Amino acid sequence: MRSTELGPNQDLIGRRGSRKLLNAPALILDLDAFERNMARMSDSVQRNGLLLRPHAKAHKSANVARRQVAAGAVGISCANLDEAEVVADAGVESILVTSPVGGPAGIERLVGLAARVPDVIATVDDAGYVEALASHAAQMGASLRVLIDVDVGQHRTGVVDVQGVVDLARRVKATDALRYSGLQAYYGHLQHVPAYADRRVVVHRALEKLRLVTQALNSAGLPPEIVSGGGTGTFSIDADARVHTELQPGSYLFMDRQYAAVELTPEHHSPFEQSLFVQTIVVSVNQPDLAVVLGGWKAFATEADVPVVARGAPADTRYRFMGDEHGGLALPAGSAPLAVGAVVELVPPHCDPTVNLFSRFHCVRGDDLVDIWPIEARGY
Ligand SMILES: Cc1ncc(COP(=O)(O)O)c(C=O)c1O
Repeated sequence: MRSTELGPNQDLIGRRGSRKLLNAPALILDLDAFERNMARMSDSVQRNGLLLRPHAKAHKSANVARRQVAAGAVGISCANLDEAEVVADAGVESILVTSPVGGPAGIERLVGLAARVPDVIATVDDAGYVEALASHAAQMGASLRVLIDVDVGQHRTGVVDVQGVVDLARRVKATDALRYSGLQAYYGHLQHVPAYADRRVVVHRALEKLRLVTQALNSAGLPPEIVSGGGTGTFSIDADARVHTELQPGSYLFMDRQYAAVELTPEHHSPFEQSLFVQTIVVSVNQPDLAVVLGGWKAFATEADVPVVARGAPADTRYRFMGDEHGGLALPAGSAPLAVGAVVELVPPHCDPTVNLFSRFHCVRGDDLVDIWPIEARGY
């Protein structure tokens, strides 16, 4: 019989050798690597005297958020209200929503969250939005902390000019229901600059703007208590620069093909290991030099190149998308062919949108499935 919350593989939990028996495609989380990644980021940020508010946009999971807080995170960052509500249900007491949430429906949910979570922090970049948020919060008798989102070069959300940030901070300060608490500054466009030295140069350029904004706020009597931002690609540069007070990386838990190509530290070695895989199975081998697997556009994010083989086939096997459900594996010349039923695990090109395609993490230690965690906030 199929599907409960834990899905068709739940009877395999705790069975020796069960990793290769999963129904495919399945999202695999290697718990040993995941735990090492979590501890390494936590240690590194704390050693540098900053706070860690990791981003739930990568995992969208109550279980993971709880573990991050237990490992020392000051709270959790969320990209949207679905994530924030799941994280609130997990018992996390300080939640930053890193993007403005738009019109009345979003504002109502955000204020509703503030009514049940001790510390909800909203980000704002627009005067009309501030008025609407303040007025609804006041009506509901709720109170929220607020960060002014600063555009540090990504040109997505955020106030663009320095005076605009000061003006908006003043507006927030003047409301009864909103408590001005500082800044958010996230440079997503710099996270994947491959060479550490190049990335450091462009990050420091962006931080110059953040320093100017901070000085202007200090002069206006509005010193930021929180400066939140940063990601996996910039964590070590941000930790050295100490312009931020807290960092919000997400991908470090899992890693992916994109981040494997980025030198994350000056020593040019990654402190983070690949912990996330998509397990596929060969279902057809009738075409010359091609093994067709279950796992196509519905199993991988497609905007960042193709997956690469982690185990079950030679490392230089080439994957290609072959439709919604299927992919093709072209093995290197001279390698032994794969038979129907062969299990192949692949590294996703981009972790966040890949996780968003699956309902659960299949947690493994070595060859054994040891747990299954729902991905409660997947999809919209
Ligand atoms: C606002 C914000 N903060 C933090 C992150 C985390 O970045 P990463 O997954 O590169 O660690 C993201 C990712 O897109 C983001 O949008």
